[in-house]
Amino acid sequence: MRSQFTGTLVALLQDQQRYELPIGIRIQNAIRRQLGNGSLKAFDRLPSSRLLAKELAVARETVEFAYQHLEAEGYIIRQQGSGTFVSETGAQLATFKSSPGGKSRSLRLSERGKKIFRSGGVHDPVPIAFHAAYPDVRSFPLDLWRQTASRVSKRLGTNALTYCDPQGLEQLREEISRYLGAYRGVRCSPENVVVLTSSQEALLLITTMMLDPGDQLAVEDPGYPGIRSALAVSGATALPIDVDHNGMLVDHLIRRSPAPRGAYVTPSHQYPTTATLSLERRVALIDWAKANRSFIIEDDYDSEYRYDGAPISCIQGLDTSGNVFYLGTFTKTMFPAIRLAYLVAPKELVPPLVAMRTLVDGHSAILNQAILAEFMATGEFTAHIRRMRQLFKARRDAFVEAVDRHLAPFGSLQIPAGGFQATWHLYDGGLETEVRRKAEQQGILLPSLGELFIRRGGTPGFVLGFAALTPQESYAAVVRLMRVIKNIRKH
Ligand SMILES: Cc1ncc(COP(=O)(O)O)c(C=O)c1O
Repeated sequence: MRSQFTGTLVALLQDQQRYELPIGIRIQNAIRRQLGNGSLKAFDRLPSSRLLAKELAVARETVEFAYQHLEAEGYIIRQQGSGTFVSETGAQLATFKSSPGGKSRSLRLSERGKKIFRSGGVHDPVPIAFHAAYPDVRSFPLDLWRQTASRVSKRLGTNALTYCDPQGLEQLREEISRYLGAYRGVRCSPENVVVLTSSQEALLLITTMMLDPGDQLAVEDPGYPGIRSALAVSGATALPIDVDHNGMLVDHLIRRSPAPRGAYVTPSHQYPTTATLSLERRVALIDWAKANRSFIIEDDYDSEYRYDGAPISCIQGLDTSGNVFYLGTFTKTMFPAIRLAYLVAPKELVPPLVAMRTLVDGHSAILNQAILAEFMATGEFTAHIRRMRQLFKARRDAFVEAVDRHLAPFGSLQIPAGGFQATWHLYDGGLETEVRRKAEQQGILLPSLGELFIRRGGTPGFVLGFAALTPQESYAAVVRLMRVIKNIRKH
């Protein structure tokens, strides 16, 4: 046992080397770890301090120091004449301390906690065919970003290492406000802009600060699951409103009595159907909000990527009553790891929303914000969007062509006028689960459209992302999917 003990101890000591702790402390930690992982048990004998010191080639006082500490903490017992042993309580204590991942028998989630957990949280997309909602990070101008980063970092020096205004870096808010005014027709100034980590955070802030438990928020059905997860936190409920080829059926919303406290819409490209909310419905929605003192959450998550026709003015820019929360994200226009998004809120609601933000994640990192602001100020941001729009349009066309050629007998594709994904409906809806399962075995993800419906009876189908795939990749995946379906039908 002695040599095995010392061997394990030496490995554990090496493991801790990078922490630059004194050797006596490392010996204590290593023995505690051996107790914790069960390789040392109650009543096991430890080598004498003299022998261990010799085996480890350290001074005897060092091992003495470690043993004395372990004895004082109750892990070991030292008896003159008979040696050093692991104590019974020491073994129990170490196991207890070393199992932070252990199950708790007495703790339970609150009712709200259970609801949040049941809502499933939000799953970030992955860059695999055909996961939806993923931009192409491989086409990002990384060298340019690096140069901008180095310039900005030098200029800021240690100023980049401090806390930031939780509303966001002023320079970035100015750039966002200028960009949104010019390109999206948003009415705002830097004072209305809040820089956040993600659109999901914006949804969380709005729903917690604007809704009480039991309140209703109208949402598109099918729709973005992130809003439902956010509602689980506030205790409010989702009121599903159907969607057609012109977006949310606003007249269904208008007929609801009492009127819900607000409505969440994705008007540029309805998620997941990609329908554009018609101008008529936008105006009707604005009038409804005004008449009912309700609010509108306009999630403009990928409006920059419109491939056919001119973009329609955003709801926030059409509204004159200040009832709209407008949000967008740099996840899609830049890259997911940037962790920056924005919320444009009515001016008087900015301070409460920012106060809530300080409770969620404090603020966004200064350096990333400053680099992005510079990227926007030099025109690189809009140039990148232009390039990506062309790239994604070509990818959409290649994807549509591949589907047309190989999958046309099995289903119908809704060709999207913009965005990162298209919906595809199998003619034989009964095969959906099997197609999905078998495709997954072939490394193809087929996100389900049906799961995005709140009410049962939604049309079966898939939401297929194409923007992150080169034409060759999407062609290959379409062919693989065709083989999967043919195989299923053969059997
Ligand atoms: C409708 C909608 N809103 C927001 C987002 C996510 O944005 P973020 O990554 O900033 O939370 C997505 C992502 O797919 C989305 O589909």
